[in-house]
Amino acid sequence: MKKQITLTVNDKIHEILIKSNETLLDILRNHLRITSVKAACWQGDCGLCTILLEGVPIKSCLVLAYEADNKRVITVEGLSIEGSVSKLQESFINNGAVQCGFCTSAFLLMGHYLLKQGKPLERKEIEHLLNGIICRCTGYKQIIDSILAVSSISSE
Ligand code: FES
Ligand code: FES
Repeated sequence: MKKQITLTVNDKIHEILIKSNETLLDILRNHLRITSVKAACWQGDCGLCTILLEGVPIKSCLVLAYEADNKRVITVEGLSIEGSVSKLQESFINNGAVQCGFCTSAFLLMGHYLLKQGKPLERKEIEHLLNGIICRCTGYKQIIDSILAVSSISSE
């Protein structure tokens, strides 16, 4: 059985006909063709499908699309400001936190969420919060350095 949902993605409203068993990840990648949202395990283990739903990071493979009806999604495309990269994206580039890039969208969205909390961040705390996302290339250090660098600028 199909159902129509309304989903706002990066400030754009979409009316989408979904099947009851489709996940938010299916909708973002297969219906809306937002392939920056990566898919690997499809069962909540890799964290690569992380997006912000109502401002909160979630693994989109674990959410059924109908649960996102009338909600707001942000993907990495929503982080750039008037077509320019954000401070965090710039920091990832400067710190060598992007290698193959497969995990980058998920880490940027999680980093954006952490920075939005508006409090100074500690390395250990970031390490802990990034725990659910897998990177096979960087060893995580550069990713954490990138978030810390923006956190320290914001708290100056
Ligand atoms: S694809 Fe969602 S956690 Fe791996
Ligand atoms: S940069 Fe390759 S998986 Fe993270």
